[in-house]
Amino acid sequence: MQLDIFLEGLSLHQQSNMRSIGKGFFVQRLHPDFANLFEANKDQAALLRFEYFGKVYPLAIFFLTGQEKIQFGHCRLVLKNYSDGIEVASVLSSALQDFFNQAPESLLSALEPEWKDAPLAGVVDKRLEWSRPTDCPSDWFSDFKNDAPEVVMFPSVFHYKNPYMKELLNATLKEIRPQEKILVMGSGCGFEAALLARRSQNIVDATDINPLAVANTKATALALGVENLVRAWQSDLFEKVTEQYDLIAFNLPLALDENSTVRDQNRCDLNGKLLRKTLQEITKFLKPHGRLIIMSHEDLSKFMPENLSYKNLSRFELVHKLAISEIRAI
Ligand SMILES: C[S@@+](CC[C@H](N)C(=O)[O-])C[C@H]1O[C@@H](n2cnc3c(N)ncnc32)[C@H](O)[C@@H]1O
Repeated sequence: MQLDIFLEGLSLHQQSNMRSIGKGFFVQRLHPDFANLFEANKDQAALLRFEYFGKVYPLAIFFLTGQEKIQFGHCRLVLKNYSDGIEVASVLSSALQDFFNQAPESLLSALEPEWKDAPLAGVVDKRLEWSRPTDCPSDWFSDFKNDAPEVVMFPSVFHYKNPYMKELLNATLKEIRPQEKILVMGSGCGFEAALLARRSQNIVDATDINPLAVANTKATALALGVENLVRAWQSDLFEKVTEQYDLIAFNLPLALDENSTVRDQNRCDLNGKLLRKTLQEITKFLKPHGRLIIMSHEDLSKFMPENLSYKNLSRFELVHKLAISEIRAI
């Protein structure tokens, strides 16, 4: 189920290193690498669990964030439904509420003794977001009996409601042929990978540098019923890619210069480093006649190595002149 995939993405699926804090509650620290995904200070992030009928359910991830003004962050994990056959949602909701109802100092020190004196200046909420894609082209979900399935967004992952992905997916869906091997790089929440797999019934590989994006890709594949067709793993560009593909699709963070105020790795590729590296290495990962389809700037000339050519498949404008481009070896 999606929540298990989320916890696995954070290496919290095993109930190890759990500290009992009484009344059925347990605390599990997040590894510093994963605490970053919540923008937590240092390694200040922890999962709160609650034991009910022998099972220790996740309730919420808590963290401290911000340098000058420290904020108390929470990411609620209680679901509307559980498949255990027992009505646990309401029990878990009230356990979480009881925990919240404590005085702030005891709540903080229960989670982590050293948080006790944190001078809190506010609260941030990074809960998982469950939604049914509604504003997508109607043919994307035409083979679903009832409606588009509910997709979950994990914190730190680029939201599927973005025009760039839509443009890329529209172009790529037209391009796929039977039996082709496909790789989606920077898969984010996994929407492109899952939909390409569903449409083509081909195996689709998916990579992302963000471990929660990898987990999100697996969760989306499960929601779209293609968990057996989508293989997702963490990789910094091609670092952990070993095969060659007929088609590689990549909605890159946008190549922006130093003056840009955007800095997050979902949206900004500072000085086009990722784009250049992708284009330099791409031929090693494409089969003969393979192609790379990317969402990026309309004019790619200053990023292109000599051995490649590109053509814009479609163009659009959102602050910058952008395009979906196809890149092939000359
Ligand atoms: C613009 S978002 C696109 C996400 C998703 N494909 C979509 O269209 O909604 C860019 C994605 O690239 C990933 N990314 C950034 N740097 C990367 C790198 N060095 N290697 C692999 N993925 C990277 C980000 O984590 C993010 O998920």
